[in-house]
Amino acid sequence: MSMETTAWGQLRSVMNAEQDRRPLARATLRRIGAFARPHRRRIARFVQLGVVTALLAVATPVLAGRVVSTIVSGGDDSTVVRLALLIALIAVAEAGLGILSRRLSAMLGEGLILDLRTAVFDHVQRMPVAFFTRTRTGALVSRLNNDVIGAQRAFSNTLSGVVTNLVTLLLTLAVMLTLSWQITLLALVLLPVFVLPARRMGRRMARMQREAATLNAAMGTRMTERFSAPGATLIKLFGRPEEESAEFADRARRVADIGVRTATAQAAFITALTLVSALALALVYGLGGFFALRGTLDPGAVVALALLLTRLYAPLTALAGARVEVMSALVSFERVFEVLDLTPLIDEKPDARPVPDGPVAVEFEDVRFGYPSADKVSLASLEEVASLDTRGGEEVLHGLSFRAEPGQTVALVGSSGAGKSTIAQLLPRLYDTDGGTVRIGGVDVRDLSARSLRDTVGMVTQDGHLFHDTVRANLLLARPEASDSELWDALRRARLTDLVRSLPDGLDTVVGERGYRLSGGERQRMTIARLLLARQRVVILDEATAHLDNTSEAAVQEALTEALEGRTAVVIAHRLSTVRAADQILVVEAGRIVERGTHDELLAAGGRYAQLHRTQFGRRTMEKAA
Ligand SMILES: Nc1ncnc2c1ncn2[C@@H]1O[C@H](COP(=O)(O)OP(=O)(O)O)[C@@H](O)[C@H]1O
Ligand SMILES: [Mg+2]
Repeated sequence: MSMETTAWGQLRSVMNAEQDRRPLARATLRRIGAFARPHRRRIARFVQLGVVTALLAVATPVLAGRVVSTIVSGGDDSTVVRLALLIALIAVAEAGLGILSRRLSAMLGEGLILDLRTAVFDHVQRMPVAFFTRTRTGALVSRLNNDVIGAQRAFSNTLSGVVTNLVTLLLTLAVMLTLSWQITLLALVLLPVFVLPARRMGRRMARMQREAATLNAAMGTRMTERFSAPGATLIKLFGRPEEESAEFADRARRVADIGVRTATAQAAFITALTLVSALALALVYGLGGFFALRGTLDPGAVVALALLLTRLYAPLTALAGARVEVMSALVSFERVFEVLDLTPLIDEKPDARPVPDGPVAVEFEDVRFGYPSADKVSLASLEEVASLDTRGGEEVLHGLSFRAEPGQTVALVGSSGAGKSTIAQLLPRLYDTDGGTVRIGGVDVRDLSARSLRDTVGMVTQDGHLFHDTVRANLLLARPEASDSELWDALRRARLTDLVRSLPDGLDTVVGERGYRLSGGERQRMTIARLLLARQRVVILDEATAHLDNTSEAAVQEALTEALEGRTAVVIAHRLSTVRAADQILVVEAGRIVERGTHDELLAAGGRYAQLHRTQFGRRTMEKAA
């Protein structure tokens, strides 16, 4: 309970921090402009359409005024009929143009959603692993959904509103002034009543919008976390569902509350504006009637003025509202840009080169590394914390050097937490070093192209991940062009043939989220099959057989030995057999290599390896012998 309370406290301070931020910056507008630029021809057509619509909108009241004038002055029938027909024609044209312009604005809006979404997806995909280890998935997905849609609203709805309404406003004003400048000016006295509250209202709405977005994301995060298979299992085993529900209801209620507050504020604002325009209308009737009775104003002009006034205040209301809407939608743009602004720590150089052909050596030279601090890789708002940890990660690897010749196997052994997995992660460049160099085939990994690096380095870890997809799709990830017989061959070598045959749809069976319907050992063998299929030149096995029992491990070990044939390999293993066969064994302790040599050399030396051999491997050796 107390933990949750602090979590909420943190969340609240995030929101406060966001509220305190500088007003929506001009830079945001400029960037929106950049996103709009590819659509500028469509926007131009849209504006033209807006002008025509506005012209038609002003024409009708003027024509109606003419009808009244004709009646009052006793004109002929044909004039009235002609005017009425014209009004009908305009109505039809307005209807057609309305649909056309709605379609155009939808095309603009959807086009923008598409651009923003793909930009965010592309960008997030390039973020380093460190980012994903910190970010909450729900918060990230919310950026892609809610905020992108919010941003689109600003663009299509308000752009259309602003353009058409502005033109309508100006035209209407011009026509009204020619009819009676006195009445027009008097009607406009009420104008400031519109403009002044709109500013404050806009700020307030933007604040509420931000708060709502944060709350929505918090709710989403909760759901994605609790409804993943491992999360749900945890709740079943340890959780208290009633309290979970109450907790969720609390979050949902806050979202609901803010929805009501926003709607109320909006309604009050719009109603106030409508009231003002109704009062102005009374003024026109009163004053216009007064002038008409004295013969200084045509009765038709009074009708035209009254009709025009409603058309004047309508765009005014819309424009004032548009400001509010733009403000809140800009918030969405900001939240999207915030993600786009994260610089990926690990990026491909523009002149990146491929890994040299043939068998390659792997080399670490005086490598120092500490996991990056949160503020370097993440966003506070995506982690749902008030501020990011700026403490530099403690150095985990302290000046490490070794070399695996082409085709050699290097085994890493050492206590848990020594830094073995960290070493492994530097090779495929999941992280970059802080000092020193990691080379593949003599080339600094930072100079290699991401694609070539992927094609060269293969890795199997303790907890191999499977996508919620078919067995086939999960395997093809490694080599999209592989044929079915190649798939079966890889499965056979990973000792999975019987299992996959027994699945209801064979290769086309969907393995659940995180491969949940497979056992740990089966999942691990699946990732091994993937490795066998990919046939990369450098292979990293990080406790790749940890979840296997003795029998299946022995079997898979054969497959792995086969897979390592002719490859350069870095193997982190707990089994003596694998380690014994290695060309070179490195004993890693506390981020340093404390011993190196072959199995026999190290045993003879009687140091840390010999000790590990007795404690860590000894029992297993006996098991195997038994
Ligand atoms: N993602 C991470 N962020 C911060 N520290 C980490 C991370 N992963 C591992 N560490 C730390 O780095 C050290 C080495 O871990 P690791 O390489 O996983 O050890 P090993 O694989 O030898 O058991 C440990 O102290 C561990 O706490
Ligand atoms: Mg490890």
